[in-house]
Amino acid sequence: MSQVDSKTITEEVRAGHKEYLFPSVQAYYREPLVLVEGRGAIAVDSDGREYSDFFSGILTTSIGHCHPEVVERVREQIGRLNHTSTLYLNEPQVKTAQRLAQISPGALKKCFFSNSGTEAVETAIMLARIYTGRDEIVALRYAYSGRSTLATNMNAQAPWRPLSSSIPWIKHAMSPYCYRCPFGPPHDDCAEKFARDLEEVIVTTTNGKPAAFFAETIQGAGGFIVPPAGYFQRAAEIIRRYGGLLIMDEVQAGFGRTGDKWFGIEHWDVEPDIMVMAKGIASGFPVGATIAKKEIADAWTRKSISTFGGNPLSMVAAETTLDVMVREDVPGRAAQRGRQLREGLDSLYEKHSWIGEVRGMGLMQGMEIVTDRESKTPDPDRANALMEATREEGLLVGLGGISAHVVRVAPSLLITEEEVAVGLQKLSQACQKVSVKDSGE
Ligand SMILES: Cc1ncc(COP(=O)(O)O)c(C=O)c1O
Repeated sequence: MSQVDSKTITEEVRAGHKEYLFPSVQAYYREPLVLVEGRGAIAVDSDGREYSDFFSGILTTSIGHCHPEVVERVREQIGRLNHTSTLYLNEPQVKTAQRLAQISPGALKKCFFSNSGTEAVETAIMLARIYTGRDEIVALRYAYSGRSTLATNMNAQAPWRPLSSSIPWIKHAMSPYCYRCPFGPPHDDCAEKFARDLEEVIVTTTNGKPAAFFAETIQGAGGFIVPPAGYFQRAAEIIRRYGGLLIMDEVQAGFGRTGDKWFGIEHWDVEPDIMVMAKGIASGFPVGATIAKKEIADAWTRKSISTFGGNPLSMVAAETTLDVMVREDVPGRAAQRGRQLREGLDSLYEKHSWIGEVRGMGLMQGMEIVTDRESKTPDPDRANALMEATREEGLLVGLGGISAHVVRVAPSLLITEEEVAVGLQKLSQACQKVSVKDSGE
């Protein structure tokens, strides 16, 4: 394709997006990127420009773009059978469910498949309410749970709540957000303080009989907020003492992303009653999954159908993704490459005082961008400038945080040492550009 042709296509897609899509479907960058191709940790735009993809379509192309084994299995399946509905059985669905039961912590055993994280969250909340015969759910502030009416009521960031609160049985406890600790020093027992707030919310804002506590293991859209050690043990103990279930959302942190373990919650030796998965589960195919302990899943005896949930195409993509992940020891690789990535980000922290904190686990790392380290004032303008600069350098990263001021870095879990080094180099150059602009040079 000539340069003129590709320019025309890019402009047509941008104009068409503006004209025919809801304005809520907001893309990154002043001039949004049109992606046309992907290979592993590389994405290619409509002008033929290659990018190191360090955001993986929001932590979703977990084993990279177009992994050859996934492509081959999907190709083979698409010519044979694409759809069954949940009224008929299909082998890939059962195999995927088996695999999930094998790698999930504790006694999580039975799955319900849907098409997105939002639906997986909906399923988990409904199941908890059916099983316990109770209504109230305690979630966390800074949460992101999706885009349905229920999920937007679970979201605890104003930009992700299009309507006023309409579900009175959802309550929010404090986020264990240590960088912005509301308790002040000393910071040695913050896990306990945040856990006490959860208990306070239960005894003051619910009837004392919550159906469940629902939390992301690392708050993703909230800005990769990692709770302090000990928080989830105490939270699990508290919610169970009040007769509620523990639901963990592993939509972002699952599938080896945090390094060494399959799921984020395993770092804290806590076994959830229900777990929610999506994004990286099928490396780009639309799959949501809710897994529960047998006796909990078995409580849902009325009918429920998901026309597309568990469809053979998505399921072969999930099954193959999981097979590759197990074979390649993705948790181990994420730990190793995560250390390399973290070292690189830590050295940027040493150079640039507008990086307030680097935090994360494994290949899920964030940099909180602030005006200065003392006031910790979020600096979305600089974060935006950094986004534009990374794009210019040929690097894709993401944004998060309540003010869109946390840069999120989460490449393919199969990324190589060399690819991490190249991406870090581009990030370093982008940071330099942003600093130079700042000093007016
Ligand atoms: C933690 C978490 N839960 C749920 C969701 C909703 O997933 P989806 O966008 O697939 O509906 C998201 C999406 O970003 C998420 O990050």
